[in-house]
Amino acid sequence: MSNPSQLKQLLSSPSIPLNDEFDIALLTANDLPDICKMLDDPEVSKYLFFAPSPHEVYQGYFQPIIEEIEKAKSENRLPNTVNLIIRHKDTNQFCGEIGLAPIDFHPGNYEIGYQIPTHVWGKGLATLGCQFMTLIAFDDLEAHKVTADCYAGNMGSARVLEKSGYIQEGCSKGYYQDANRSDDKLYFGMTKAQFDTMQS
Ligand SMILES: CC(C)(COP(=O)(O)OP(=O)(O)OC[C@H]1O[C@@H](n2cnc3c(N)ncnc32)[C@H](O)[C@@H]1OP(=O)(O)O)[C@@H](O)C(=O)NCCC(=O)NCCS
Repeated sequence: MSNPSQLKQLLSSPSIPLNDEFDIALLTANDLPDICKMLDDPEVSKYLFFAPSPHEVYQGYFQPIIEEIEKAKSENRLPNTVNLIIRHKDTNQFCGEIGLAPIDFHPGNYEIGYQIPTHVWGKGLATLGCQFMTLIAFDDLEAHKVTADCYAGNMGSARVLEKSGYIQEGCSKGYYQDANRSDDKLYFGMTKAQFDTMQS
């Protein structure tokens, strides 16, 4: 169900419940070691164009986001980029990262992405996280379009997007090519009108 103040709740609390078992929180510097460890796993990086990479690369990507979130908190405003961390409610074990970034310098256009560590694959966390972030995009950040893309072979990611209400809008044939494989790139999207229809 839509809750227009989810992002404000996250800005004012260390974490909020994602479901009975898991909490969700805004990214902080303390999460970086767990993110790096997850991205070092070849199972996780198999369909990620940016991984594996040296940890400095991840640091360089996430540090400005962490600073923007901190600045937004201190200025009592919403951040323009949102990265969320899922942790187990009882153990605090790291269970995933979901990102939402503005794109193309077009106000209202955002891109969503997510990575879940293998020990909690298949528990519905990527779907829950993607749905949670989609609410933030349209309800809190007033997105008019959210997009996502994935390797065609990444059937889990494509299914997460479909289950979250995203529609496949395109396919770039042979987009990914390296010594070991060739794969297509699938483009997904959701407009504000599609989001509103889904919510009604
Ligand atoms: C893809 C990924 C995010 C899925 O996370 P998850 O938490 O296990 O996904 P969920 O449990 O929410 O599953 C959602 C759906 O996808 C299906 N699914 C998940 N992994 C799958 C796989 N490898 N192959 C086929 N279907 C898969 C699930 O069965 C479920 O569908 P169903 O409800 O119809 O049965 C996770 O495997 C991951 O982080 N992979 C590495 C990083 C990555 O590829 N990120 C996405 C980049 S675009």
